Amino acid sequence: MKKTILITGGAGFIGSHVVRRFVNEYPDYTIVNLDALTYAGNLENLKDIEEKPNYIFEKGDITDADFVEKLFQKYPFDGVIHLAAESHVDRSITDPLAFAKTNILGTMILLNAAKDSWKNNFEGKKFYHVSTDEVYGTLGETGLFTEETAYDPNSPYSASKASSDHFVRAYGETYGLPYVVSNCSNNYGPNHFPEKLIPLFINNIINEKPLPVYGDGNYTRDWLFVIDHARAIDLIFHQGKNKETYNIGGFNEWKNIDLVKELCQQMDEKLGREKGTSEKLITFVKDRPGHDLRYAIDATKINQELDWKPSVTFPEGLKKTIDWYFDNQDWLKNVTSGEYQDYYKKQYN
Ligand code: NAD
Ligand code: DAU
Repeated sequence: MKKTILITGGAGFIGSHVVRRFVNEYPDYTIVNLDALTYAGNLENLKDIEEKPNYIFEKGDITDADFVEKLFQKYPFDGVIHLAAESHVDRSITDPLAFAKTNILGTMILLNAAKDSWKNNFEGKKFYHVSTDEVYGTLGETGLFTEETAYDPNSPYSASKASSDHFVRAYGETYGLPYVVSNCSNNYGPNHFPEKLIPLFINNIINEKPLPVYGDGNYTRDWLFVIDHARAIDLIFHQGKNKETYNIGGFNEWKNIDLVKELCQQMDEKLGREKGTSEKLITFVKDRPGHDLRYAIDATKINQELDWKPSVTFPEGLKKTIDWYFDNQDWLKNVTSGEYQDYYKKQYN
């Protein structure tokens, strides 16, 4: 069936994998990628599909209501997959207002445009909000986040994502806008911007720079290969039930310090450096304020209802990720020049 789908944030890390999947898997769909190309957005991420006949790129800002309204007049959208966001917790601590603007106001502007352009005739329409497990706050040493876990966000980033989740639900209840929300754990893989733990540390190991582990490193995250997240998004967009939330996770918990040691070992092998070389770069630094101790997802619902589970094991995924950064050193050099250098100095010096 022909459809026109708006994907926002499609030039970013996860968005680029979602756009690629939809463009390749659904040649009958028209995929419109709306992205403001902030520091985190990069059209290099989509070079392999940019000439495809079913792909259109639109540069624009989701907080620009006039622009977004006109976009909805220009294209007959059947669905929206909304990923555009400010996504880095540390940046949200230094500039919380930017997160409120893009993640809350930007989401509301998209919701409004969808509601108005679909004119309350919502047959066959869907607004899919891609969200995070951080809305649930933090876990102790045990337990898992389920879809019923109460929202309890701790960082400005997670508070902005929680707020946007609530607005999506409010538009569903108040105006009848069909929606679905997913809350996913930490992604990793190719095209990940090197401000986040795994790509930052790969880049620093290559350049023999210190590896800044926050606090004592005893914080736990549940890591999922980005291609598996894109596959889950495809399933939820097509088969997810109206007004439902789906948790997505990797069944793959790592304490930061253990993950960093594993990464160091694989990087030493890759670089032909003596075992233990990269571990010497580990430096414990001041903790992140409000640092959530542990995230872990119960992904039973998506597993049972949509038959989804991760397909890439962590050793495979980490190897693919490291190989990608080695094969794409120009990409890494490009994104770590300019603004990145100022950010790095402010964050780590
Ligand atoms: P990212 O920072 O890599 O990419 C965000 C993209 O959004 C960039 O291309 C950027 O240019 C674009 N963007 C930012 N502000 C915009 C604006 N005002 N208008 C239009 N485009 C704008 O983020 P990511 O890691 O790929 O995350 C994508 C989404 O998935 C986010 O909503 C995030 O909250 C969510 N998420 C991320 C993870 C993760 O581990 N990275 C996990 C769960 C959920
Ligand atoms: O859980 C999903 C979330 O995962 C997404 O919603 C966010 O967009 C995404 O950025 C990610 O958030 P985290 O804060 O968990 O990811 P980050 O890579 O920034 O940090 C992972 C862990 O590593 C966290 O405990 C903080 C720690 N860390 C991070 C950096 C950047 C360090 O110890 N040192 C660092 O330099």
